[in-house]
Amino acid sequence: MLTFALSKGRLADKIFKMLKELGLCEISIDDEDRRLIIEQGDFRFFLAKPSDVPTFVDNGVADLGVVGKDTIIEENRDIAELLDLGFGKCRMCVCAPKEDLDSYKYKMNLRVATKYPNIAKAYFDSMGQNATIIKLNGSVELAPITNLSDCIVDIVESGRTLKENGLEAVTTIHELSARLVCNLASLKTKYDEISKVVDGFRELLRK
Ligand code: PRP
Repeated sequence: MLTFALSKGRLADKIFKMLKELGLCEISIDDEDRRLIIEQGDFRFFLAKPSDVPTFVDNGVADLGVVGKDTIIEENRDIAELLDLGFGKCRMCVCAPKEDLDSYKYKMNLRVATKYPNIAKAYFDSMGQNATIIKLNGSVELAPITNLSDCIVDIVESGRTLKENGLEAVTTIHELSARLVCNLASLKTKYDEISKVVDGFRELLRK
C-alpha cells in the first residue's frame, strides 16, 4: 500500500488524473465530496491542508506527498524531493507599493508582512537587513496598503492581485512549482512501488 498526502482541489485532481493515465488507479471526486481519506487498490490518499502535507510525509504517516515548493522551503522538513511536477508555477517575491518600489531596501526597521515567515526571515538575513516579520494568514497585499508593513513577501502567479492593489514585485526570491516529496524511510522500504510512480510521472511529464 502506498499512501499519498495531497491537498484537496486542483492539485489532487491533477494527481488522480496522472495516476489514471498510468493505469494505476481510477479515482473521481466532485465538489460535494467531503471524504478526507480515499482508498483504492494499493493506493490511499489523505486530503490535507497544503501546509500540512510535509508534516504527514515527515512523520511517515504518508509515503508520498504533493506540495508546492513554497511550503517545502517554509516547513523545512527532513523529506526527499523526488520530482518537479511542473504545474502550479509561480514565484516567491518581495513586493512593494509601485510608487515607492525601492525604499524598503534602505529602511532600518523594515516591517515585512507574509504568510511565509521563515522564507522572509531567511531572505532578509541573507541580505544583511534587519526586518520585523509580521505573520498574516492571507490577503497579505492589504498590509502595505494599510501601512501595517513596508513591503510583503508573497506568491505571485498572474500578478493580478498585486496590480489591482497598487503593488509590484521587486525581487524574486524563489521560483516555485508543485513537487513530489517522499518520506525518507519509505524511500528504502517501498523503493519499487515508489519508483513505479516516479518513473510513470516522469514519462507523463515528458509528453
Ligand atoms: C495567493 C497569493 C496572492 C495571490 C497571487 O493568495 O498569496 O495573494 O494568490 O495570485 P495572482 O498573482 O495570480 O494574483 P491566495 O489566492 O492563496 O489567497 P490568500 O489571500 O488567502 O493567501
